[in-house]
Amino acid sequence: MGKTKQNHILVIDSDRERAQKLLHQLEFVDYDAKAVSSPSLLDGYPGLSDKLAIIIGNCPGILEHVSKLRAEVKGCPPFILVSGDTPLYMTPEQVEKNFLGCITADTRFADLSNVLHRAEVESGIVSEEAPTPAVKAATAQTQSPELFRSLVGNSRETRRVRKMIEQVAPTEATVLVLGESGTGKEVVARNIHYYSQRRAKPFVPINCGAIPSELLESELFGHEKGSFTGAIGARQGRFEMAQGGTIFLDEIGDMPLPMQVKLLRVIQERSFERVGSNKSIKCDVRIVAATHRNLEKHIADGKFREDLYYRLNVFPVEMPRLRDRVEDLPLLINELITRLEHEKNSSVRLTPAAVMALCNYSWPGNVRELANLMERMTILHPHGVVDVNDLPGKVVPNQKSSNEYEAIAVPADAENMAGVPSLPMLSEPRLPRDGIDLKQHLTDIEVSLIEQALDDCSGVVAHAAKKLQIRRTTLVEKMRKYRIQRPEDATSTLAE
Ligand SMILES: Nc1ncnc2c1ncn2[C@@H]1O[C@H](COP(=O)(O)OP(=O)(O)OP(=O)(O)O)[C@@H](O)[C@H]1O
Ligand SMILES: [Mg+2]
Repeated sequence: MGKTKQNHILVIDSDRERAQKLLHQLEFVDYDAKAVSSPSLLDGYPGLSDKLAIIIGNCPGILEHVSKLRAEVKGCPPFILVSGDTPLYMTPEQVEKNFLGCITADTRFADLSNVLHRAEVESGIVSEEAPTPAVKAATAQTQSPELFRSLVGNSRETRRVRKMIEQVAPTEATVLVLGESGTGKEVVARNIHYYSQRRAKPFVPINCGAIPSELLESELFGHEKGSFTGAIGARQGRFEMAQGGTIFLDEIGDMPLPMQVKLLRVIQERSFERVGSNKSIKCDVRIVAATHRNLEKHIADGKFREDLYYRLNVFPVEMPRLRDRVEDLPLLINELITRLEHEKNSSVRLTPAAVMALCNYSWPGNVRELANLMERMTILHPHGVVDVNDLPGKVVPNQKSSNEYEAIAVPADAENMAGVPSLPMLSEPRLPRDGIDLKQHLTDIEVSLIEQALDDCSGVVAHAAKKLQIRRTTLVEKMRKYRIQRPEDATSTLAE
């Protein structure tokens, strides 16, 4: 398969460990990332302009390197800065001017993902059809931006769907979105509209399965006054409302056969009549349809017209089940919680173990079920921390403990992937009413963590230091200072 600019990233960093960490994160979500240790090695480096972005570690002379590359490489990709412990070699304004974004080696996955998305926009992969700020502003006045949430997720499957949306949105093609209930079919439909030239015009959804068949025709095409009992006045149908925009025919598989014939005619002739009228109305409406049903089986059972199927199935988009893309879970959880924070003014956090437990669940109700669960958790544990044991029995059948989940084989960076801080930071400490001896409290935490690390590493100081991400000598010093002894050798001296 040909490589696409979309997933090529170059990491330039002399800090090997930092570079390696980033490569892991990037590779985990299917970016094709390569690393070089110094900008000076880039002379004649192949395919630089094909990169989606260049992630570069903070180093002396960084601005000169960046300017040189910009000047020498035609179509030079945007730069992302990795700041470290050392001070930045430039002013904040220079960072702003020269870099698309700034991350750290320990950056949360969500932030990395965001900046890479910006790179996609920058490189034109997304921006070609993305609305200009002006159009965005205009659209925002007529349509709630809330409804046009982007398709969150960075799994290979979700990225494939996003790519398809980008490809099909600017065309006029009819799209058929397939997938189980709750997988995000409507999210796809709204995105197709949003990224099309029709974005400033209405997006009109209609659930063909929820409207009684005798009313569906009038609902779709409108009616004239007195055209049937109860038709007191004339009324526009959804097709008319969607003029210039997009109609979303949801649950098309449940549309009664007689309506299917009428819809087919509209698609073929691009015009329709209101019920009770013979005046033909031209319709300039793009059709996006969706169903969770297997339409081919429906055709075989005589429930769906084959000719309509072919008319609708010009560009099929299949939404994968959530259990087939659990890599999306951390980002989805973040997104859903952020939504709850905005809409319900409530929040909740999940421990990494809880996120892991959710990764092992089968999600028959897909993202909708996840959204419901998150809402339930915010109600049960408002602004609290949810651990495995707090999850419903249906999701975690035999209530494993957090420790067991930590043992489950998960990607090394899963905690970062969760987009939520790891456990110690999660259990937000509460300030006691009478205040606290902060220095002593922090010391106690430090001692406890050091002791745990030493216990975990059978007293091997070098390993414990690695676990605590400090130098061995620093750990030895701290052990001396706090008189901490190695577990298996309580009487010996501390030096290794
Ligand atoms: N990738 C995603 N990113 C963000 N939110 C999502 C995503 N997928 C689904 N959702 C959210 O999950 C819920 C269900 O999505 P949606 O209504 O689009 O699914 P559906 O496939 O149409 O489901 P149904 O068949 O039940 O109508 C919505 O709240 C939607 O915003
Ligand atoms: Mg739906």
